[in-house]
Amino acid sequence: MEQYIIKGGTPLNGEVEISGAKNAALAILAAAIMTDETVTIDNLPDVRDINVLLKAIEEIGAVVNRVDRHCVKINGGTINSVVVDYEHIKKIRASYYLLGALLGRFKKAEVALPGGCEIGTRPIDQHIKGFKALGADVLIEHGMIKTNADELEGNHIYMDVVSVGATINVMLAATLATGKTIIENAAKEPHIVDVANMLNSMGANIKGAGTDVIRIRGVEKLHKTEYSVIPDQIEAGTFMFAAAATNGNVLVKNVIPKHLEAITAKLLEIGCAIEEYDDAVRVIGVEKLNNTQVKTLPYPGYPTDMQPQIVVTLAIATGTSIVTESIFENRFKYVAELARMGANIKVEGNTAIIDGVNQLTGAQISAPDLRAGAALVIAGLVAKGFTTIDDIKYIHRGYENFEVKLRALGANIEKVNSEKEAMTFKLKIG
Ligand code: UD1
Repeated sequence: MEQYIIKGGTPLNGEVEISGAKNAALAILAAAIMTDETVTIDNLPDVRDINVLLKAIEEIGAVVNRVDRHCVKINGGTINSVVVDYEHIKKIRASYYLLGALLGRFKKAEVALPGGCEIGTRPIDQHIKGFKALGADVLIEHGMIKTNADELEGNHIYMDVVSVGATINVMLAATLATGKTIIENAAKEPHIVDVANMLNSMGANIKGAGTDVIRIRGVEKLHKTEYSVIPDQIEAGTFMFAAAATNGNVLVKNVIPKHLEAITAKLLEIGCAIEEYDDAVRVIGVEKLNNTQVKTLPYPGYPTDMQPQIVVTLAIATGTSIVTESIFENRFKYVAELARMGANIKVEGNTAIIDGVNQLTGAQISAPDLRAGAALVIAGLVAKGFTTIDDIKYIHRGYENFEVKLRALGANIEKVNSEKEAMTFKLKIG
């Protein structure tokens, strides 16, 4: 079983290059099968979720050609099935984008319902509401979501909750519907703009992505394109907090600083210095960080996917901080692991009350999900002594070469497969 072993206490210093955005890439790969021409996608992160989705796309008959580690050519002209039941697909949330893509193109799709509700119940009622509004029937049966329509027709859709997934899914299907669709109360995350830009480069007619009203005029067909995915704002934010927590000095490269504003604002508040460049951000830590308050919100608010990373950082700040999670109801599970490292955090409902401590100490802990896993790595980087993290498969879902990038910044971290490898690392580091 793979584990990370970390010896904490070394400030991160140097430069790190951020990969393409996983959550944008997942939707963009689904969009790529909406034409029978060849679509080239570049700046893909080489992470597990992306590789699972590519395999699922191949399983339904599309041709997937890996040009290199970060570039793929996809031809959906040979798709011979609209049933996506690939055994691993349930493990990735974004499998549901294949519903919108296949429904749009073939007016029919059956996709295994995403499971693994590690951070909350995560209903998909808004996706279903959107498809139905476009004229599709939707049925959940034997673990599959089945949808079909004689014809998809544009409609006026008001989203009851701001949902990234539902906004993108309805946008995908509506692209090939007849007439005009208006999505109100749409999510505004950077990757919604990226997916809309990609679809428009295939001949779609989408306006207003990035605002809360998206207007889509359906087109008859889409064509080939070459598209490069935006940088991953969450990976960037994770390295920014790792720099802050370890009192380091890190230049985070290949980012869009505008997408990082909520994160930058919090780092400034807790006492870090930030230098902003065209496509890079430098984070310079301080000896002792200040406390703060933060509530997760849809973009442009502070992202829920950056909640565990700020909690870990505030666990060693001065005074009491309050972090409120307003998007997912079960996203503080990792706090129990932090407590084993000496953090003083009380969770009441959707709020964590954090009393900063002087020092965390290394322990054997386990990653409960992707972002919490990355945050626990940050905890290991600041803790005294050795930390062992189990279940790092979650971290590999969304972070490319995480330990390699951290090591290049001076971190003492190793991925090990056995007790023997763990001992060798401990002896080497001392
Ligand atoms: C996406 C991201 C995830 C991020 C989240 C919020 C991907 C693959 N994942 O997840 O990393 O944490 O956005 O930024 O891009 N909801 C409903 N009904 C629905 C859909 C959502 O009630 O039909 C609720 C959810 O339970 C949650 C809120 O809406 O409380 C936001 O969820 P949503 O934006 O849909 O998250 P995902 O798209 O699943």
